Amino acid sequence: MTKQRLGVCYYPEHWPEERWAEDACRMREIGLHIVRIGEFAWSRLEPSDGLYEFDWLRRAIDTLHGAGLEIVLGTPTATPPKWLVDKMPDMLAHGADGLVRKFGSRRHYCFSHAGFARECDRIVNALAEAFGEHPGVKAWQTDNEYGCHDTVESYSNAALEAFRSWCARKYGTVESLNQAWGNVFWSMEVSSFDDIELPNLTVTVPNPSHRLDFQRFSSDQVTNFNRRQVEIIRRHSPGRTILHNFMGSFTAFDHYAVGQDLDAAAWDSYPLGFLERSPRGEEFKSRYMRVGNPDFQAFHHDLYRACGRGRWWVMEQQPGAVNWASWNPAPAPGAVRLWTYEAFAAGAEVVSYFRWRQAPFAQEQMHEALLLPNSEPNEAYHVVARVSQELSALDAKAQTARSPIALIFDYESAWAWNIEPHGLDFSYFELVLAFYGGLRRLGLSVDIVPPTQQAIADRKLIIAPGLFATQKGLVQALGESGAIVLLGPRSGSKTKDFQIPPVLPPGEFSSLVDVKVRRVESLRPGARIPVDCAEGYFEGWREFLTHGKNVKAQLRSIDGEVVLAHNGRGYYLAGRPDECLLDNVLRQVLTAAKLTLLDLPQDLRVRDNGAIRYVFNYGDATTDISSILGGAPLLLGEALLPPRGVAAFSRITD
Ligand code: GAL
Repeated sequence: MTKQRLGVCYYPEHWPEERWAEDACRMREIGLHIVRIGEFAWSRLEPSDGLYEFDWLRRAIDTLHGAGLEIVLGTPTATPPKWLVDKMPDMLAHGADGLVRKFGSRRHYCFSHAGFARECDRIVNALAEAFGEHPGVKAWQTDNEYGCHDTVESYSNAALEAFRSWCARKYGTVESLNQAWGNVFWSMEVSSFDDIELPNLTVTVPNPSHRLDFQRFSSDQVTNFNRRQVEIIRRHSPGRTILHNFMGSFTAFDHYAVGQDLDAAAWDSYPLGFLERSPRGEEFKSRYMRVGNPDFQAFHHDLYRACGRGRWWVMEQQPGAVNWASWNPAPAPGAVRLWTYEAFAAGAEVVSYFRWRQAPFAQEQMHEALLLPNSEPNEAYHVVARVSQELSALDAKAQTARSPIALIFDYESAWAWNIEPHGLDFSYFELVLAFYGGLRRLGLSVDIVPPTQQAIADRKLIIAPGLFATQKGLVQALGESGAIVLLGPRSGSKTKDFQIPPVLPPGEFSSLVDVKVRRVESLRPGARIPVDCAEGYFEGWREFLTHGKNVKAQLRSIDGEVVLAHNGRGYYLAGRPDECLLDNVLRQVLTAAKLTLLDLPQDLRVRDNGAIRYVFNYGDATTDISSILGGAPLLLGEALLPPRGVAAFSRITD
């Protein structure tokens, strides 16, 4: 089992060479072991076409390695230099508005441009050849944050050509495509694959089936782009861990698919920026403005653990205020430490901070770092020093046991409901996150999993809110799993082609709970459907069910409709619940699954990692956690847990 370690993101090309050795030495002094470099340095690595200047990078790697650091080397493909853009201007992506997305920031490329892909092969190959066997290079990061700044979909000519071929491969004949998309509607039929357009700039909304296929295609382009780099790196740099740094609340491509080609997943965790950008209300945002949504980071830790098939890192951890949200508060004292332990508790191998020194120039000069621009320590510098000392005492390992609870997260469903939200604020991502938060508030550690047979095996409770279509084998696997299965609203309400299935929704899922959805409604903010004889309500979305005779209505709305249907091991929740109703529903299914829950105070969260149980205080008040400890001696923290405090203790495992 891997020991958990700390790292940092560093940009040697931003600083005079004379400073590198001192920087490296200070990194080691505060207990950093890993340093990521290189991911935006293409203009310095190849200042003009074919002229490689790798000596500076070799000296940087030698210096960092010489100080005892392990290097993660980034491929620089997120920032193609100006000469390359001038050489092939059509490599630039086009936005949905049809306009070209110009040079002058980053990620200015189209995933479908064959010429650009070859240039990437070339630079990645050159770098992997030069540094692949360097003893200091222990890992690679491909590109940087695929999709950041809305860059998965491109509406360029290159994308159009590639999409037409993708459709031809998928459908074989244009008749099958017309059929699958329902193109007879509004005379949208095409007579050759060359007639197909990209789904933008239409007079009113494009066909949802067309859009879903375009999203699938765009996702495949990301996977293929990444795979090319991985294959090159593997050839020249055997034994190194290959990662990519994914993002938060980002669903535009299938991260499980990209993860299949990597050795481990990583993600970039900016709790305060994410909270600010989230759709949560003002009260919630003010309450957690300096510590972040207590469940958001943990959700991603679990999601990316699945994407990395068990192995994952935080590649960029927010260390202070960021620059990119609408408002950018400083973290509360203790918050950076708490975020670090949340990641380790969820089994991260590495938590790496973004970045070493605040840049005094360019776009991110207002982004805090471990050091101030003048190299004096900023707050997080001291946090890192403290955590690294604590870690050695804790002897924490990257591991997590398989949870008896699986929460299914499916990228295609995110695309489907993004394409047809039906109610302005319906979001698949937020729906699944809400279920996750509900479970976590009950003290449960959850695995987030793809909708596959293997991922749901050996569970006691499987929760699948809003899976848009039934998938081959999944219904059967759920039926045979022996687990309690809770389905959420909109389950099985489309076919894979984005049509209403011949059997009324939830389609084949009705073999798990014998219900039919006859009608749905979306509800504007503030509209509520209260539940009879219990607290809580539906908001945003509700469905009207009929059901077979073996089905029991566990809960009904005050207007008499079924809220929670149940038969055998299956449950169906017919709307989007508020926190209170969700809590009620989760308690029912947890009881049915014979799982033990914890009644936690509002701002406490718990996470089990192997034999260690962690407790986190996201609140502003000191909280007594003695009842959680049950007399166990503390490895970290205190029974009177201060605001943003972290405690850890050995729990008895069987
Ligand atoms: C990430 C990105 C970094 C940096 C950081 C700022 O999205 O990977 O390069 O821009 O955000 O918070």
